[in-house]
Amino acid sequence: MRIAHTIAEARAARADLPATCGFVPTMGFLHAGHRTLMDHARAECQSLAISIFVNPTQFGPGEDFERYPRDEVRDLAMCEAAGADLVFMPTVHEMYPAGATTTVTVGGITSVLEGAHRPGHFDGVATVVSKLFHIMQPDRAYFGQKDAQQLLVIRSMVRDLDMPVTIVACPTVREPDGLALSSRNVYLSPEERMQALSLSRGLRQTAAAFTEGVRNAPRLRGIVEREVAAQPLARIDYVSLADADMLAELDGEIVAPALLSMAVRFGRTRLIDNAVLTP
Ligand code: PAJ
Repeated sequence: MRIAHTIAEARAARADLPATCGFVPTMGFLHAGHRTLMDHARAECQSLAISIFVNPTQFGPGEDFERYPRDEVRDLAMCEAAGADLVFMPTVHEMYPAGATTTVTVGGITSVLEGAHRPGHFDGVATVVSKLFHIMQPDRAYFGQKDAQQLLVIRSMVRDLDMPVTIVACPTVREPDGLALSSRNVYLSPEERMQALSLSRGLRQTAAAFTEGVRNAPRLRGIVEREVAAQPLARIDYVSLADADMLAELDGEIVAPALLSMAVRFGRTRLIDNAVLTP
């Protein structure tokens, strides 16, 4: 496994990798959710490249960029165990040297949900992923359904800018008790973590109602809202039930795949989770 710290090193190492090359972009502090992306890529591609970069441009002022958890040694061990050929770990200065002024902005779907609550977030994501694609030149890139809107943003960017990469989505990995794995879960106190189970519980209850035939969007949305709002430490940013392509909020009956998603704060920790409801 080669480790590249500069763009030049990454390009040189990439040139030695056989096609097809699978790529997993991450911000590190890797967990089993990241690992599943690596495993999918390893199974489907001849070579596996991973990036570990806590991207400052996707964090807003007052968000957790400085305290975002990091563990380089453990991350590299996981990459090695997953059979990675190349890990790219640039510094902030390497990715954003003084004078860098170009930003990739995806329109439409970035104005709602995470985009509405984290202004500039998706510009940061689209810009860094676009840079990483240019550096790593992957044939296939793997993203988690956990960040459902991010996945849609990346798909739009790749389509609109004719990037020659296939985007592959992988299902959300959860703890046995339902909590979606996230690098940010380490911030949670035991009490917050207990109450955070309301997110996945609400999703499961809504999915069950949906299976039993409930199709009314406000009613389905209300199931999650009630479950989460019942937790004394929970502060809801949003609970959304939107069409799964354009993210337009739904208020009638569900007749096409719909994305049920939410962002909830517990103290200083902001968690997101989602499920797709398919009629
Ligand atoms: P990060 O939060 O590290 O996530 C990297 C990838 O792992 C993303 O595609 C994310 O959706 C996926 N992932 C995270 N938790 C998961 C889980 N529980 N199950 C399945 N997949 C999961 O997302 C980012 O980093 C950044 O925005 C990035 C794309 C790297 C750009 O900076």
